[in-house]
Amino acid sequence: MKKKRLCKHCGGEQYRYRSNTSTLVAEPCECLATCGCDELQYRWVHVSYETGRIVPEAGPNTYEAQAKCKRCAPVYELVRRLNEARFPTKHGGKSKPITKEQKPLYAYLRQWVKAWDEGAVGFTLCGAVGVGKSQALVAAARALVEKRRVAVRFSHAPQLLHTIKLDIERGLASSARFHELCQVPVLAIDEVAELRTEWEQQIISDVLLARYQAGLTTMATTNLVMVAEDGGLDDEELVDQLGSAGRRVASRMHEFMPLLVVGGADLRRLRPADKQAKLEV
Ligand SMILES: Nc1ncnc2c1ncn2[C@@H]1O[C@H](COP(=O)(O)OP(=O)(O)OP(=O)(O)O)[C@@H](O)[C@H]1O
Ligand SMILES: [Mg+2]
Ligand SMILES: [Zn+2]
Ligand SMILES: [Zn+2]
Repeated sequence: MKKKRLCKHCGGEQYRYRSNTSTLVAEPCECLATCGCDELQYRWVHVSYETGRIVPEAGPNTYEAQAKCKRCAPVYELVRRLNEARFPTKHGGKSKPITKEQKPLYAYLRQWVKAWDEGAVGFTLCGAVGVGKSQALVAAARALVEKRRVAVRFSHAPQLLHTIKLDIERGLASSARFHELCQVPVLAIDEVAELRTEWEQQIISDVLLARYQAGLTTMATTNLVMVAEDGGLDDEELVDQLGSAGRRVASRMHEFMPLLVVGGADLRRLRPADKQAKLEV
């Protein structure tokens, strides 16, 4: 039997990423244009007046309607979801562990993605600077979209706060972005505790409290090292960073986004030779 050759652009996925943007942009691959439906995503079908079912040919008792094409509509849907998630290109590439400390984390996240169900408990990746928290967060969030077709939003807390601030400065009564973050089925917040003012603490606390209340999956990263010397939990700094509602928010975070501690060295500071060795782990 002749083996079908996979598209050289997308390897058969039928969509691909553009690499020249700061936010990851997905687009349908050109190989999808060979789908054959009249218009991509939709095709014209004949429907029987009597049964309401699609029939192979036009006849006196049929009308024409547009139906979503089974082949290409799901790809368009996936591309839309990937773009709505707004993943940063910087962390959008590899999604495999590169250090021995990352190995159990990636194994856990793979399982987590597989088992994800609406309202599932999320996680908070905590650990020192440069150990690979953001990379792992994006990898897990992207896998949720790619493998499970879930609606996800990714946001970097400082940038997100900036966007909300601009909305308010423009005189909008409420920020659409803020409401979106409170309501999307899955939210990933990078650097969740990078908060400089009371207003910033309040916005992030409000988002987290709203999501806890609604039972929505939430993931985050933070540089705060929350493990005490005796191995126990020490979240005083987190409580502090979150401001006046800090204790209430942190307590809820432990329940609906429990800590996953990431160890290892600062990957940005490794010498090129060390990096090579890590890549071969
Ligand atoms: N699994 C991986 N595959 C490829 N590159 C990785 C991986 N993990 C980390 N890196 C790279 O190592 C560097 C540090 O990773 P990352 O930015 O995720 O760390 P971080 O823990 O979020 O750091 P910070 O606390 O400063 O935000 C980045 O350049 C990242 O792209
Ligand atoms: Mg980071
Ligand atoms: Zn292709
Ligand atoms: Zn089609």
